[in-house]
Amino acid sequence: MYKTFGIIGDPISHSLSPSMHNTAFRELKIKAVYGAFEVKRENLKEAVEGIRALNIKGISVTIPHKSSIFEFLDEVDPIALEIGAVNTVINKDGKLKGYNTDWIGVLKAFENRRIDIKERKVVIIGAGGASRAIIYAMKKGGAKEIEVYNRTLEKAQKLGEDFGILAKPWEELPLAQGDIIIQATSIGLKNNESPVGEEVLKKFKVAMDIVYLPLRTKFLKLAERNCEIIDGLQMLLYQGVEQFKLFTGREAPIKFMEKVLYEEVKKLEGEINFGI
Ligand code: ATR
Repeated sequence: MYKTFGIIGDPISHSLSPSMHNTAFRELKIKAVYGAFEVKRENLKEAVEGIRALNIKGISVTIPHKSSIFEFLDEVDPIALEIGAVNTVINKDGKLKGYNTDWIGVLKAFENRRIDIKERKVVIIGAGGASRAIIYAMKKGGAKEIEVYNRTLEKAQKLGEDFGILAKPWEELPLAQGDIIIQATSIGLKNNESPVGEEVLKKFKVAMDIVYLPLRTKFLKLAERNCEIIDGLQMLLYQGVEQFKLFTGREAPIKFMEKVLYEEVKKLEGEINFGI
């Protein structure tokens, strides 16, 4: 019998997770399929009941459900609880447990490029679910100082309190400086916008974006003359690698997953006009 996995979120039409996981299943000859399920905010409860009813073995969770799914789960892993976001749900005999692999994804992306986080000053733009996992990862990695900037200051302040880091107003972003800068908003997704200009990026050594469509976002283009850059597919890949382990109990075929992600994103870039 084939086991079923999938992703829930909205929008979901451009998700690369099905290609990534189905490639991994195929490579390891695991009898499983992974689908994409568009789930509107108001239908989350029914969708979670559906996971149980259809005996779907594992689910990736993405925008906008990473925090709101908590109340529908039977159990949440302590790290996901601390982060305040779930991106993976495992169905074990009808009991649903939530995990977070985004933070490991971020750490692995840095590790893979041999970029040190220890004792570095990190600036994070954005205060959503992705930022929470990134902050957790940066703290685990031993960052010396972390600042978060957000359009809505209250949300940055909440993160500040939850993680013991500094919340800064959006208007002060042009003054930001440090070693590592991470773009964790949706700015730049399918358009040619960046939250900061080159004059800000010049003050950093490393720039990472979580947006991967286009792969070279405006933010990364402005950064690459002065910084080492980490594109948005790296976090997607490594969170997926950890997720695959939770889904199957097997080591993921990283190289195959990476290859298909970069191929698929090229195809999507060909289909979409970014106004560049
Ligand atoms: P995710 O869970 O993926 O992080 P999210 O919770 O919707 O998604 O968070 C999106 C982040 O992008 C937020 O920090 C949001 O800022 P607000 O908290 O002010 O809403 C930020 N964001 C999205 N579009 C933005 C824009 N045009 N300008 C500035 N910030 C933006």
